[in-house]
Amino acid sequence: MPDKKLFSPLVILNPPLGNLSAEKFLRDHWQKKPLLIRHAFPNFEAPLTIPEIMTLAQREEAESRLIMRRDEIKIHEKNSGKHTDWQMQQGPFKTKDFRAAADSVWTLLIQDTQHFSHEAHQLLQRFNFIPYARIDDLMVSYAVKGGGVGPHFDSYDVFLLQGHGQRWWQISAQQDLSLQPDRPLKILSHFKAEEEWLLNPGDMLYLPPGCAHHGVAETDDCVTWSIGFRAPSQQEIAMGFLDYLRDEIKLDGQYQDGDLQMTSRPGEIGADMLLRVSKMLDEIRAAAADKKRLQQFLGRHLTEPKSHVYFDAPEKILSLRAFTKSAAAQGLMLDLQTRLLYDELSVFLNGEQLCNVDSRDAAWQALADGRALSAVQFKAALPAAQALLYEAYCSGYVHLA
Ligand code: SIN
Ligand code: CO
Repeated sequence: MPDKKLFSPLVILNPPLGNLSAEKFLRDHWQKKPLLIRHAFPNFEAPLTIPEIMTLAQREEAESRLIMRRDEIKIHEKNSGKHTDWQMQQGPFKTKDFRAAADSVWTLLIQDTQHFSHEAHQLLQRFNFIPYARIDDLMVSYAVKGGGVGPHFDSYDVFLLQGHGQRWWQISAQQDLSLQPDRPLKILSHFKAEEEWLLNPGDMLYLPPGCAHHGVAETDDCVTWSIGFRAPSQQEIAMGFLDYLRDEIKLDGQYQDGDLQMTSRPGEIGADMLLRVSKMLDEIRAAAADKKRLQQFLGRHLTEPKSHVYFDAPEKILSLRAFTKSAAAQGLMLDLQTRLLYDELSVFLNGEQLCNVDSRDAAWQALADGRALSAVQFKAALPAAQALLYEAYCSGYVHLA
């Protein structure tokens, strides 16, 4: 049975920004400039130990990567010197994979640790001064001394929180973001460090998108937690919206040209045809400007689980009556993988818009904000909401606390 105190409804703790308020951080740093926060997490307690990280990397559901670097001295006729060979292997891993990496300087990376550990989830929750719609995941990296993923930049904001051991971080505001060709990961061709720091457990570095950075493990037990954000590209949003329209829009009209004029250039696509086709697409243009459609698209899109996420129904499904009784006594919590968001009209759960639900219902807002519902809040929810929560429970989206 999970620890109940982890599931108390919404708790807004002080943002882990040292002496800086969330308002000042957002105004001066967010998406703008880096910030080093010493002792952001005084007495930091890691969500996972090193053996737990190694075990998680062996699980099929976890997205893990092993980055191996081998520095070789090569002597050729024309070209001599030090050559760095980078390799990347995708998990799940077996212990023999770690043994095979032992002749390299390696780093193990695991995405979405908040899906597997309540403590990791709780750590990510410390960043809930930023909307969940902008939060992506809590990644962990575990490296041996000298390990790292090379100098690179990310296209999203990130907080790099030192867990165990120490890591040197170098950063640069350089404009040259050209990448080394033919590498299995993004490595900058010309990284020129402008600032550098040694981070100890509990220290944290915030980097805006596009800021070049290079982290090198200083110790053999170097664990860094990366709080990564979601910044969908314009391409992703446009493609998502077009997919949404494909499913949602049904246009009945047919191309018509009752006033067609005879042509002496039958090979030409005429201007009148272009105009008619443009008119046929008027509804698509209108859809992109229709607030309700955009809200529906965005809610579904932002709550769509990642492709590798699966939910397990409870082993023994309670009846609606038994569920209601238990929820009224214990409360509910969202599954660690569940995405639940609301806007001014609707509630969206794992890619679906909930039918006949008014997002002003306090129960839905409390559940989405706090990711849990106390017994009292459940009892206060409307019977229709309780019935929908039962459906969510049957799908494994929600659990009894
Ligand atoms: C790491 O923790 O090794 C990499 C994180 C990053 O640079 O984004
Ligand atoms: Co990075």
